[in-house]
Amino acid sequence: MFGSLVHPQAQRCPSAAAAMTASLPSSEPLQTSQPRAPRQTPMFELVPYEKFRDTPAVRFFDITVATSNARDLVIHSGPAISPPDEEKTGAWQFYLHPHQEDNLLALHGGRTFYLVNLGWNYPYHIVRLETGGDILRIPPGTFHRSVSDPDGSVVLNQAVRQPGADVMREFRVYNSRRIPRLFATTFRTAPLPKLHGVRW
Ligand SMILES: [Fe+2]
Repeated sequence: MFGSLVHPQAQRCPSAAAAMTASLPSSEPLQTSQPRAPRQTPMFELVPYEKFRDTPAVRFFDITVATSNARDLVIHSGPAISPPDEEKTGAWQFYLHPHQEDNLLALHGGRTFYLVNLGWNYPYHIVRLETGGDILRIPPGTFHRSVSDPDGSVVLNQAVRQPGADVMREFRVYNSRRIPRLFATTFRTAPLPKLHGVRW
């Protein structure tokens, strides 16, 4: 079943255009005469897994992520937003893990993920996770936030933490209102995100 979607940042930040204009000085690096090597930023993936038995009464899956060295369980009891929007302005906030790959599986309910990676050819994607669906692999360096369905959701993360990963830094919250390129990418005047299992 598909989730329906509105574009909450556009709706909740009607005055954000001024903020965007004010926060878009030319922070882009200057063009140099030396060509740069293209960046190799891994794309997000939807990873299938083996389903030994998938019937209405019994569902028996092998969900092993062999490279995982940490497990997080995230339970939303209602239509939670993670991380929560900024209280005063409603601006979207995001997590970004510098040294952690997420591998997310919905165990109950559904959740919609908003992904932004400025190193991707197309930087903005919205991905739907359903119970028992594919595992969403989010590479390090990707801004991400999620919104649960009205009845909540339970998501297991089989994370891969690189050597030197620091939990405090991995779970830092980034406010899009303070990051011009992130804000511009998710604002209503930006090109629409690419949708995966989601409809407007
Ligand atoms: Fe994460």
